[in-house]
Amino acid sequence: MTQKYLLAGRVALVTGGGGEIGGAIAKRFAQEGAQIAVGDIRLEAAQACAGEIIKAGGKAIGFQMDVSQPEDCEKAVRAAVEAFGKLTTLVNVAAAVTPDGTVETISFEDWNRALAVNLSGAFLTCKYGVPELRRAGGGTIINIASQLGQIGVPGRAPYSSSKAALIRLTTCIACDHAEDGIRANTLSPGAIDTARTLRRWGTREKANEMRGPLYLLGRTGQVDEIAAGAVFLASDESSFMTGADLLIDGGFLAFKSKTT
Ligand SMILES: NC(=O)c1ccc[n+]([C@@H]2O[C@H](COP(=O)([O-])OP(=O)(O)OC[C@H]3O[C@@H](n4cnc5c(N)ncnc54)[C@H](O)[C@@H]3O)[C@@H](O)[C@H]2O)c1
Repeated sequence: MTQKYLLAGRVALVTGGGGEIGGAIAKRFAQEGAQIAVGDIRLEAAQACAGEIIKAGGKAIGFQMDVSQPEDCEKAVRAAVEAFGKLTTLVNVAAAVTPDGTVETISFEDWNRALAVNLSGAFLTCKYGVPELRRAGGGTIINIASQLGQIGVPGRAPYSSSKAALIRLTTCIACDHAEDGIRANTLSPGAIDTARTLRRWGTREKANEMRGPLYLLGRTGQVDEIAAGAVFLASDESSFMTGADLLIDGGFLAFKSKTT
């Protein structure tokens, strides 16, 4: 039996690809046969991810971009097309780190930054990417939202609001571009073991101890579990899916909690 590569012939732009979830998605996509343009505000991290893909025998480029800047998003789309001849897949992973607080204490600047990166960043890559996806004969858009985009979260208004709006933006893109052969879905992770979670909890052990009981599966998630969902959404395995939110949260939203 010959091996089937789920993303053979695809070209993906992954923003925030220098991060842990973005990096895992980029590398898994490459293993499935896609060529990858890795963009991140941290140049070295983007190049390191692309370098790992190339070392493993794949094709990738890595570059610096700030997704909140229209010209960076336009350039990133152009760079992917120049390098690989087309663009079929957009994965918006980039997200800002926003301090916790309430509407009283969060600065307007921090609020605007969260929306500019988490929401407008996806708007911008889609703005410049959709014409290329259409030119390629169709494609897929995967916006990484969050379980926290579905619920109210104390102290995290900018993050939660931006992710909720990202979910709705994605359904609108799905509506507007179904006839172009473009499918658009969000993927909403639960707490995943990354530096982002560790910043909040200190160590993996502490994160699991504090968060685990809130999950039906009794633990936090792994980046590969998110990358697997992204491969599904990018591939023809999800060919009848658009305008949806794929929740990969270990059962966090399905029940109140084991502890209360
Ligand atoms: N880790 C979790 O538990 C978790 C849970 C739910 C959702 N998510 C979402 O998954 C995504 C990735 O999370 P992660 O844990 O890998 O975080 P991360 O901080 O490792 O990755 C985010 C990446 O985005 C980059 N970035 C930040 N601002 C940028 C900008 N303006 N332009 C371009 N790149 C920028 C960062 O440099 C970083 O590499 C985020 O969208 C996050 O909201 C994460």
